[in-house]
Amino acid sequence: MILVTGGAGFIGANFVLNWLAQCDEPLVNLDSLTYAGNLQSLQSVAKNSNYHFVQGDIGDKVLLEALLQQHQPRAVVHFAAESHVDRSIHGPADFVQTNIVGTFHLLEAVRHYWGGLSAHQAGAFRMLHVSTDEVYGSLKDADAPFTEQHAFQPNSPYSASKAASDHLVRAWHHTYGLPVLTTNCSNNYGPYHFPEKLIPLVIHNALAGKTLPIYGDGQQVRDWLYVSDHCSAICAVLQAGRLGETYNVGGWNEKTNLEVVHAICAHLDLARPLPNGSYADQISFVTDRPGHDRRYAIDASKLANELGWKPAETFETGIAKTIDWYLNNQDWVLNVTSGAYRDWVSQQYVTAQA
Ligand code: NAD
Ligand code: DAU
Repeated sequence: MILVTGGAGFIGANFVLNWLAQCDEPLVNLDSLTYAGNLQSLQSVAKNSNYHFVQGDIGDKVLLEALLQQHQPRAVVHFAAESHVDRSIHGPADFVQTNIVGTFHLLEAVRHYWGGLSAHQAGAFRMLHVSTDEVYGSLKDADAPFTEQHAFQPNSPYSASKAASDHLVRAWHHTYGLPVLTTNCSNNYGPYHFPEKLIPLVIHNALAGKTLPIYGDGQQVRDWLYVSDHCSAICAVLQAGRLGETYNVGGWNEKTNLEVVHAICAHLDLARPLPNGSYADQISFVTDRPGHDRRYAIDASKLANELGWKPAETFETGIAKTIDWYLNNQDWVLNVTSGAYRDWVSQQYVTAQA
């Protein structure tokens, strides 16, 4: 079986759902259920006998040791993190605590567990650390996309905390021989994305008749990847990645923020036409994010060349699927935006423990 951290978040939940749909191997999901953790995203697998949920913190050493001993996973896939750049600017402490200190405790627990495995089990064991392209900093328009050799130049408290965690993971391999893999992925989008991030926020605000806030001039560039393509890349690296290596993950889909927002508005204009005008009329330019990185772009050719991975979705197919998912899952969105999912989670959790 495998142990996943942060499996109730956006990417983690997509990973858990895909994993259980695609293979018969049990999975334990350890998640502390911060505001970003939503068990409702995993409702469809709650009763799957291959799925086990544990509410807990990656910084809880006693819990980690117990979980590893109890379940004897062959791999750990580490998603758990504070992930929103704007929140890291307003309150960086949680980012240092979870992303750096939490990852440290996880590495230590995994190291002790791995050290006690038989030679055969230890040789097969893997820990995969899920990280971000933001560790590389910001590109100029004419710069080549980030390769794995690009220097770390993180600019926000979020990206600095992720960069620190990447360094810890690297050091635990180099010093202790821990069999780790790291992925550095570009911006994800798709189902179950918390509507604080650009794409789900714009879809939600457009449908609610609210303004669509564009930071600064809207010419910042992000490299978008449909979330299930990120999940398939993680599986490919887990299965055949070279130990201690990092793999960039991206879909070669650079877009300015304004292009993304206009694409969403154009899709909604067809799917849910307004009586007058376009959703684009709701666009509003607002104060820029402090220290806003101008451009991210990922060179994913190492992953393609070594492991044969390629994304299944283009931006056009992925954004259409995403918007349709939000249109068809307005109850999920409503529960998140009203905060009702928090009550639902506590009820569900009490029930699950009973
Ligand atoms: P998210 O914020 O949606 O989910 C994070 C999950 O981690 C939540 O379920 C939360 O409850 C859980 N969590 C937070 N702190 C925890 C702790 N101390 N112990 C246990 N669980 C905890 O994040 P996401 O967007 O799904 O990102 C997942 C991972 O992928 C993160 O490590 C992030 O840095 C990385 N990443 C994200 C993107 C993206 O575009 N979203 C791109 C590249 C990499
Ligand atoms: O690059 C990978 C990263 O992508 C992940 O590591 C992060 O966890 C994830 O949150 C994401 O970070 P970004 O800051 O790029 O994503 P966000 O959706 O917050 O913003 C995307 C772009 O849109 C960014 O340039 C800021 C801008 N933006 C965002 C919001 C929320 C706006 O213009 N208006 C908004 O309201």
